[in-house]
Amino acid sequence: MLKKIVLSAATALALSAGGAMAAGDEAHVEDVAFSFEGPFGKFDENQLQRGLKVYTEVCSACHGLRYVPLRTLGDEGGPHFSEAEVRAYAERFEVFDAEIDDYRPAKPTDHFPMSGDPNAPDLSLMAKARAGFHGPAGTGLNQLFKGMGGPEYIYSLLNGYTGEEKEEAGTLFYENTAFPGGWISMAPPLFEEMVEFDDGSANSIEAMSEDVAAFLMWTAEPKMMARKQAGFVGVLMLTVLSVLLYLTNKRLWAPHKGKREA
Ligand code: HEC
Repeated sequence: MLKKIVLSAATALALSAGGAMAAGDEAHVEDVAFSFEGPFGKFDENQLQRGLKVYTEVCSACHGLRYVPLRTLGDEGGPHFSEAEVRAYAERFEVFDAEIDDYRPAKPTDHFPMSGDPNAPDLSLMAKARAGFHGPAGTGLNQLFKGMGGPEYIYSLLNGYTGEEKEEAGTLFYENTAFPGGWISMAPPLFEEMVEFDDGSANSIEAMSEDVAAFLMWTAEPKMMARKQAGFVGVLMLTVLSVLLYLTNKRLWAPHKGKREA
């Protein structure tokens, strides 16, 4: 029986691996050791603040974050800005207010704006949407064992430009080793030392991409830390319960076991 199950599982794995291989070369995604990986991983507050700066000064020209409320920038476990900082940040965006039938500066209760460029997808959930199936032959094993997912994809995308361009049907495409299909219509958005950080943090393309990828992971899953904590408590409770059940079971059966009746 066991042999049968193992055999059919192995066949299924081999078949799916073969199918993914037939689909062509897998786009190249690099592994990055983010602070929020693993069961006890946490977002790095400073990194999220730097990532927000990169998003604001570069990506927000085209990409929106329409599902993210501005007030969450003050959340603990997130960028954790003070209330005054959040208010000041919100005011840089204009939102349309139906009540006054006009535009007004955004407040912390508003959301980030939508994408300004209709071709640029909203980035709120991108890090989850592109969690993807990385690993040998698209099996998803890298996600399971190395924690590789959406943020690694975004990092690799921003670092994956080869410098080659081609025009097709009036649109310019840029060769990118991480983008499925190899050609993306987003021009390389980052240049060395494009964003200056107050504390003098590294601002190479790699450093800025890592920061903005971490920030986009936070926008996609702001409650990640709470989820991990709840999971840990859950596992702990189940472990205690298992021990208790085992002992109860032993106790209940003690009078009947170990005695051999003739
Ligand atoms: C000049 C406008 C522009 C800027 C600035 C820009 N993007 Fe884009 N981005 C686009 C467009 C257009 C697309 C759609 C590309 C496509 O599907 O070919 C895109 C697509 C993406 C995608 C989705 C790729 C996919 O798998 O579908 C991600 C992720 C992304 N951009 C991240 C960023 C980040 C992070 C920044 C800031 C560092 C940024 N972009 C800056 C225009 C822009």
